[in-house]
Amino acid sequence: MKLTLLGAPGAGKGTQAAELEKEYNIPAISTGQIIREAIAAKTALGNEVKTYIDRGELVPDDIVVEMVKERVKDDDCKFGYILDGFPRTISQAETMEKLLILVDCALEIDVDEDIIVDRLSGRRVCSSCGATYHITGNPSKKEGVCDKCGSTLKVRDDDVPDVIRHRLKVYSEQTKPLKDFYDARGKLITVKGQDKVEDTTRAIMKALKDIEA
Ligand code: AP5
Repeated sequence: MKLTLLGAPGAGKGTQAAELEKEYNIPAISTGQIIREAIAAKTALGNEVKTYIDRGELVPDDIVVEMVKERVKDDDCKFGYILDGFPRTISQAETMEKLLILVDCALEIDVDEDIIVDRLSGRRVCSSCGATYHITGNPSKKEGVCDKCGSTLKVRDDDVPDVIRHRLKVYSEQTKPLKDFYDARGKLITVKGQDKVEDTTRAIMKALKDIEA
């Protein structure tokens, strides 16, 4: 199974990628998470890309493509992968095809914009392992504490109103056109992601089983 997840910021790509990772036993590769880890570790790459993230802009294509190109060479990708947040532009998708980093399916999680804004404003992430929660929709067992590793939860730096608005604009202009790109290849599946996490997971699993059949 080689899959890419499409959808606006906050649609639930990371949340569902974690479920798919367990179900299919293949790694979820989040370019956003790789970038945030590089920023936190203050690597040369992290310092280079920080300004883009802080403004809600996309990181340049060549940087992200290189990241994914290296990551999919790892042993754990032998039987497949779930790409979360990549490709994000038509140019990234075309380069990916040239490099033979292929996907069987592009799964779009479709959520209305008012719900998106609520999800991003209420998101909390673990400062250590990156696990994602929502203050009402998907809360941690103990407020402010990660269920998985016990570290403190925080608001992501790009989850502030101005940056959220800009990320949604960037999504609409640069990433949404990927729907037509994958539709033209017969690879697009759209699942509504408005309901509870587990309902969306069920709808995704069903859609994937249907294409496997
Ligand atoms: P990235 O980390 O990929 O951010 P994003 O696409 O903006 O997506 P998010 O992580 O915000 O949302 P999500 O869809 O994963 O939703 P989540 O599951 O967290 O990228 C960050 C930045 O990195 C980009 O802006 C860009 O600068 C750069 N970047 C990354 N990839 C790049 C690329 N390929 N090219 C160039 N630049 C790149 O859910 C959101 C919230 O809702 C959570 O709180 C969650 O708990 C909650 N939730 C989820 N589902 C439900 C549900 N069903 N019901 C209730 N709550 C729910």
